[in-house]
Amino acid sequence: MSFLACRVFNEPDVHHQLVQMKHDELSVGDTLIKVDYSSINYKDALAASGRGKIMKAFPLNAGIDLAGTIESSDNSSFQKRQKVLVNGCGIGESYDGGLAQYARVNSDWIIPIPDAYDAKKAMIIGTAGFTAALAIYRMQQNGQSPGSLPKHGPIVVTGASGGVGSMAVNLLSKLGYETIALTSRESMRDYLFDLGATEVTTLDKLELSDKPLAKALYGGAIDNIGGKTLSKIIAHTNLWGNVASIGLAQSPKLDATVFPFILRGVSLLGISSTNCPMALRKKIWRQFGRELPLPNFEKILSKEIPLAEVSPYFDELIDKKHYGRLIVNCQ
Ligand SMILES: NC(=O)c1ccc[n+]([C@@H]2O[C@H](COP(=O)([O-])OP(=O)(O)OC[C@H]3O[C@@H](n4cnc5c(N)ncnc54)[C@H](OP(=O)(O)O)[C@@H]3O)[C@@H](O)[C@H]2O)c1
Repeated sequence: MSFLACRVFNEPDVHHQLVQMKHDELSVGDTLIKVDYSSINYKDALAASGRGKIMKAFPLNAGIDLAGTIESSDNSSFQKRQKVLVNGCGIGESYDGGLAQYARVNSDWIIPIPDAYDAKKAMIIGTAGFTAALAIYRMQQNGQSPGSLPKHGPIVVTGASGGVGSMAVNLLSKLGYETIALTSRESMRDYLFDLGATEVTTLDKLELSDKPLAKALYGGAIDNIGGKTLSKIIAHTNLWGNVASIGLAQSPKLDATVFPFILRGVSLLGISSTNCPMALRKKIWRQFGRELPLPNFEKILSKEIPLAEVSPYFDELIDKKHYGRLIVNCQ
């Protein structure tokens, strides 16, 4: 039986194509999953458009996350038709990913979908929501809290209208944090207030100092863009604040001094969703709807795209033509 997949090739240049393929052409693994939903993350857009070096082998199906049902498994702890998800663990980078009607994975990577949400909602959360939640978890483990004394101040979220940014703004505000949404798009103002931001600032109006240690404005940060903005935010972070570094949408460069770290106790926390240890990954996915609120699914979902129509969205995502989460219906 053949099925549809969004496959990335490297000849003559890196590009994707919608192809029909067979189960025995998929990456090796002990479990076959019928994929109901996947999503388009920044990394998927870079991989499928050839605008970033993401794939470690070719050809490979794109898609760093998926949710669906077990079709067959050599691991007896999984039953046929059980609802499961996978994110990170190298899918869509080193192994065939979720932007296909079927995926074959290693059962060690599989997470049963908790009762609090279904496959569609799991992919509205997706890698973006998982990563925002991982950042919040690490910040809180390191002492961040809405009522920390001395009062830390608001958490600034950069790239706020993107997938990770939207999730971070929404989750932080539901947890009681004052949240400043920093965006490059004035048009996203109402959307970000709707998600719970206490303040919305546009990048062009942001006046941050170039000093290595500047006025303490932020209690912490969730940063999706890197570059000069991240460097300055670190210098403006208050005593013992946590800055979670997630992305590089502006630049991978960081031009900082050690002063905020050694004079204010600021922590720079690295967030890496792909290789998050499995025990912590399971814990974070289980927290949604329990220790962690569920996000506002309807507000954050900007579009549901059929797999057959996915092609234009990769470039459009990088060119900031969308907001929130783009999910892909694979069946
Ligand atoms: N570390 C990890 O494990 C991990 C996991 C997921 C994602 N990421 C990274 O996190 C970042 C966000 O991912 P995503 O999936 O949320 O992507 P996304 O939905 O495309 O969001 C990216 C957002 O960044 C802002 N942005 C884009 N280009 C920019 C530029 N040139 N200058 C300043 N801001 C810019 C835009 O927000 P505004 O319009 O609001 O400005 C955009 O919506 C990416 O760099 C991605 O690679 C890392």
